[in-house]
Amino acid sequence: MAIITVASNGERIHVEDGETILSGLYKAGFAYTVGCRRGGCGVCKIDVTEGSITHNRPVADSVITPEELSDGTCLSCRAVPDQDVTIRMRDSSLRLINPLLRQINDKARERAEAGSTAPKEL
Ligand code: FES
Repeated sequence: MAIITVASNGERIHVEDGETILSGLYKAGFAYTVGCRRGGCGVCKIDVTEGSITHNRPVADSVITPEELSDGTCLSCRAVPDQDVTIRMRDSSLRLINPLLRQINDKARERAEAGSTAPKEL
């Protein structure tokens, strides 16, 4: 699991292993501007300012350039956090659309964080 921190508002979102940033945001009750959701349009670009991601499928240089990748830009619909990450949205379209999902995600994050700091039983 990983925690996504949204730089603009401090939201902390729990994602399961292998889950994309876009999926994690939606499952936590947030929505923002997206297009194809398949790595083909580039509308969902965001900046990863801390941590690292891996795109779960190859992405075309015409959608995201090598320079953008090296600067921390990623496609949120294909980006899977390798570890905890901090992201910056490209516009102000991130909005909470389902507070109940956010509460559920908050509980999952709290449980995951408690589990990761709890002493391991031998
Ligand atoms: S929504 Fe089209 S590349 Fe992500």
